[in-house]
Amino acid sequence: MKQAAARAAIALVPEDSVVGVGTGSTANYFIAELGRIRNRLDGAVASSEATAKQLKALGIPVFDLNGVDDLAVYVDGADEVTSHLAMIKGGGGALTREKIVAAVARKFVCIADQSKRVHVLGKFPLPVEVVPMARSYVARELVKLGGTPVWRKDFVTDNGNAILDVHGLTITAPAELEERLNQIVGVVTNGLFARRAADVLLLGTAQGVQTITG
Ligand code: A5P
Repeated sequence: MKQAAARAAIALVPEDSVVGVGTGSTANYFIAELGRIRNRLDGAVASSEATAKQLKALGIPVFDLNGVDDLAVYVDGADEVTSHLAMIKGGGGALTREKIVAAVARKFVCIADQSKRVHVLGKFPLPVEVVPMARSYVARELVKLGGTPVWRKDFVTDNGNAILDVHGLTITAPAELEERLNQIVGVVTNGLFARRAADVLLLGTAQGVQTITG
């Protein structure tokens, strides 16, 4: 189902464009599909070091985002996605770069299998990237908001930071919580993608790929 969604996303990649590429097992299927059409692409912007490595191995040029002023489309997976196309992302720890590339892209295409579709976000622990020295302070603030933060030990993000995975949240107002979490000093990014939600969800199901727009 992940692979079918990834395949369907290829149709949304314009000819001769630079494509933003996400991170994770679903995005990996998309990278493999990009390899087949690499001659039709100018190149890619990667949302993680792991993705950049895979793209390069397929002979796809990887550009620094600072040199790219127009990104037609960004394709990435999600850990949870609602019918409004708000998401939790960051299970793989790449949330900050994912959010940056998504902000630049004109269209965000989420690719996911049907297990990722939820009514309310929060069963999947919400990843929060923090500056290492602020980890305990941010954790205390997250407890005040009703969450149970767990330090992702032995994990350092591509940006040299730590991740707190916040359990126990029932997120009924994702855009508000996203903004609130960003106000905590020491938080680099949180894994709520609601203010910049996906524009299209390609959902792999047992009956085929459904296209859902927000
Ligand atoms: C990476 O940091 C994440 O945002 C992934 O996009 C997300 O965790 C989905 O990953 P899978 O496709 O592996 O489920």
